[in-house]
Amino acid sequence: MATKLFFLLILLSHVASSLSEGCHPQDKKALLQIKKELNNPTLLSSWNPHTNCCDVSSWYGVICAPSSNRVYSLLFEANDELSSTFPPSIGNLPTLEHILIYKLPKLIGSIPQSITKLTNLKSLTISETGISGAIPNYIAKLKSLTFLDLSNNHLSGKLPPNLFNLANFEAMYLQNNKLTGSIPSSLAKLNSSVVDLSHNRFEGDASVFFGFAKKTETIDLSWNMLAFDMGRLQFPKTLKRLDVSHNRVYGKLPEDVTNLEWLDVSYNRLCGEIPKGGIVQAMGKKSYLHNMCLCGSPLPSCKKYM
Ligand SMILES: *[C@@H]1O[C@H](CO)[C@@H](O)[C@H](O)[C@H]1NC(C)=O
Repeated sequence: MATKLFFLLILLSHVASSLSEGCHPQDKKALLQIKKELNNPTLLSSWNPHTNCCDVSSWYGVICAPSSNRVYSLLFEANDELSSTFPPSIGNLPTLEHILIYKLPKLIGSIPQSITKLTNLKSLTISETGISGAIPNYIAKLKSLTFLDLSNNHLSGKLPPNLFNLANFEAMYLQNNKLTGSIPSSLAKLNSSVVDLSHNRFEGDASVFFGFAKKTETIDLSWNMLAFDMGRLQFPKTLKRLDVSHNRVYGKLPEDVTNLEWLDVSYNRLCGEIPKGGIVQAMGKKSYLHNMCLCGSPLPSCKKYM
């Protein structure tokens, strides 16, 4: 009993000392610099230099790893007062693994190069902000990155071809930007669960996202200007949801569509008979309307084209 108590006391003193140690001075310095770069927004009024940045619920949006007391996650969301360019000092939080910046419409400027210092970064979400400019090719230096969500911003320009040197990529959300150009063929290496490039201005071939051996489950390429032969695609065997609507996709629908759980190919230049089976007919006409000469259930029969 006495020894148990002894161990408990040791354990408690450890917990207490790690709490009083608090925030790593280097992290606190970087966080206060970020606050300054963001023009001291009211969102960060809890970032008080005299308190412990690692205390749960003391500093807004800061989460530390309990074992090391180092900052591993930053989470800013839903604030339309914060008005600033992207804070470069974010690169001075070397243990950061997750950045989630969501719904800050007055956060503007481009993604700073200092972000490449975050070699432990696993997920990067900057969504529904005012950030603009190109997706920088230096994002590919973030070797630990598995989740990238840059959706709903004002990003423009082409996709950097080296972007998907990132071996462990799990999901890529780039929808609702102003991205242009063709899809780099190097992206054939990408093997992520989700690819969403919808509502951009991409052109040309996007067949690199397909291929039997990939583990992709969702592909959304809708609302672009993509043009490729759908009949030649080999779907990933894991593919469940496919949206290529509102493009210039041509050819016929491959038999593989019968393995999907959801499909929209409307507003394209497809032709030929719609394969039968799976959810294909149950999706209803709206998934197939406005093509060149697509026919058969659920559209009218192919007789008129024979
Ligand atoms: C994609 O990843 C899955 C799961 O890790 C793996 O089995 C498959 O071989 C990979 N495919 C390609 C084309 O790299």
